[in-house]
Amino acid sequence: MKKAKRIHWYTTSSLPASLRLLKFPSVLPLRDNRINSIIRFTSGDQLLSDQILFNDATVNKTFYFKVPKVSSMKALDFKEYLEKISPGLSSEEGFRFGNPNLEVKGILVSWMATKEAIEKAIDEDCNFMIVHEDLFYPYEFQRDETFEKYLTWSVNHTRLKMLAEHNITVFRAHGTLDRLCILDDFAETLGLPEPTVRKGYVRIYDVPSITVKDLALDVKKKLNLKAVRVVGDFDREISRIGLPWGGLGLSLNIGFLEELLRYAPQVLIAGETDEYAMYYALDADVNIIETGHSISENIGLKGFVEKLKRDHPETKIVFYECEKPWRFL
Ligand SMILES: [Fe+2]
Ligand SMILES: [Fe+2]
Repeated sequence: MKKAKRIHWYTTSSLPASLRLLKFPSVLPLRDNRINSIIRFTSGDQLLSDQILFNDATVNKTFYFKVPKVSSMKALDFKEYLEKISPGLSSEEGFRFGNPNLEVKGILVSWMATKEAIEKAIDEDCNFMIVHEDLFYPYEFQRDETFEKYLTWSVNHTRLKMLAEHNITVFRAHGTLDRLCILDDFAETLGLPEPTVRKGYVRIYDVPSITVKDLALDVKKKLNLKAVRVVGDFDREISRIGLPWGGLGLSLNIGFLEELLRYAPQVLIAGETDEYAMYYALDADVNIIETGHSISENIGLKGFVEKLKRDHPETKIVFYECEKPWRFL
């Protein structure tokens, strides 16, 4: 390693933004008026350490501490990584905003690039966001060919403004993560056995006979929820479960529900569903237990973040949990 050399001297009043964003130990708040100055040591492009000089009544004290290594990852490297662990990215996956050649300072993974998630990325100095859901509304299949007009929609515009102002690049990883971990991690958390049917996105589980009510209470407990919505007869005994996780229980995905019904499940444990789909289930004589869209997918996303950290130990990676957007009153 090259010998460290002193290259910058900053007083606290002229501290550059990049230094302010570093995560100093909480005992050393940067705005502490005991701090006189900060010296940054580098070797080549590598940041080695920051030294803080304190204004003390008696003597200038010097503190050294380790600064996390700077990642040399580019946003494009993540795309290559995902391609390696995927049978192939679909058209609904890929960069959605920003610069694929971006030098990644930190990654924030979240279910959706909501305003709060983007704020968290800004706070954490993460300039690369990996999200599971799309950045823009409406759904891709609901858009016409004039894409630009959707950029003026209030939420799309707000998100874009925040991302542009903070030079954040966004990548959407959808089907790859559903297949890799989201679907099966949800099933595992529910304590379901090995699926009887595992075909594409279809999962059917055979379990010992249980009433819908007891199953719903068990789901509630395992996911630590205050309530779940239940469609159909509470007292019905069931032994075959279908799993339309995420948004696959919504009426806009009714074709998928129909595919599940071909395997004769008696109850569906859904992520998110709606009344339109609920009537379909009722007329098909199938119960639904609804948990939540983000709830059913956050579990697998968290697991993915752990894998990402193991595979990229040099890179700062943060998980932001998009909580369900409503409360009970
Ligand atoms: Fe999903
Ligand atoms: Fe989803």
